[in-house]
Amino acid sequence: LGRRLVCCSETASTNSDAFHLAEEGAEEGTVVLADRQLAGKGRLGRRWESPAGVNLYCSVVLRPELPPYEAPQLTFLSAVAVARAIHTSTGLQPVIKWPNDLLLNGRKVAGLLNEMNAETDRVGFVILGIGVNLNMREDQFPPDLRSPATSLLLETGSAVVRQAFAVNLLRELEREYLRFTQNGFGPVREDWTRYCNAFGREVRVEMGPHTLQGPFAGIDHDGALLMTLPDGRIERILSGDVTVI
Ligand code: BTN
Repeated sequence: LGRRLVCCSETASTNSDAFHLAEEGAEEGTVVLADRQLAGKGRLGRRWESPAGVNLYCSVVLRPELPPYEAPQLTFLSAVAVARAIHTSTGLQPVIKWPNDLLLNGRKVAGLLNEMNAETDRVGFVILGIGVNLNMREDQFPPDLRSPATSLLLETGSAVVRQAFAVNLLRELEREYLRFTQNGFGPVREDWTRYCNAFGREVRVEMGPHTLQGPFAGIDHDGALLMTLPDGRIERILSGDVTVI
C-alpha cells in the first residue's frame, strides 16, 4: 500500500479524491493524504473536523474480490489496523466501539469512513477513509461535538510525528489486508472482538427514533451488530449509535 501516494496541503475530502482516482482506474493501494480537509466527511452524513497540520487524514483505494454485502468487513479490518498503529506508536491500547470508532479513555481518537463502488455482484473498489487525531489540542475541538474527543497528544503528553504514524498505519493495514485476502474474515473478526469495548456487555443502540437494548453478541459476516433479545433471538443491526451501559 502507498506505492502511489498523493499528498496535498488542502482538499475537500481525501475520500472524495481517492474515489475519483479509483473511478479513473487508480491501482489498488493508492493512498491520498492531506494536511487539511475543507469538507471532511464523517459517518451518517456528519462532518469530520479537519484542521491543518495536526491530524492524519488518509484514504486508501482497495479492490478486493468480494461481493458488495461483505465490503463492510474492510471497515473492521481497518479498525484493527488503526488500533495496532496507535498501540505501536504510543504504547496505548485503544478500544473499538462498533462499528468504527477508536476510543482512548472513553474519548474518540479516530474514525473510519469507507465508501464503495459496486457492480451488482462484485465490489469495484472500496475507499478506506481514516481520520486520526494526532496532535489536536483541547481548544481545537469544536464545542458542539456529539461525543467527547481526544488526541494522541492529549493522552500521552507528547507529539506524534505524522509521517512516522502514516508509515506505521500503512504497514499495519497492509499486513491485515494480506492476512484477510489469505485467511478471510475469521481472524479479523477475532481481533476486532478482542479490541471491542462492548463484547458481552449491555448496549443501547439508537437508530433514529428507535432504540434497542440488550447484550452485545458480536458482529456478523457483513459487519452487522448482533444483539441478544430477551426471548433469546439474535437481532442484526446494520446502522446506529451505540452506548455501552
Ligand atoms: C466518523 O467517525 O464519522 C468517520 C470519520 C472519517 C474521517 C476520515 S478523514 C480522511 C477521510 N476523508 C474524509 O472526508 N473522511 C475520512
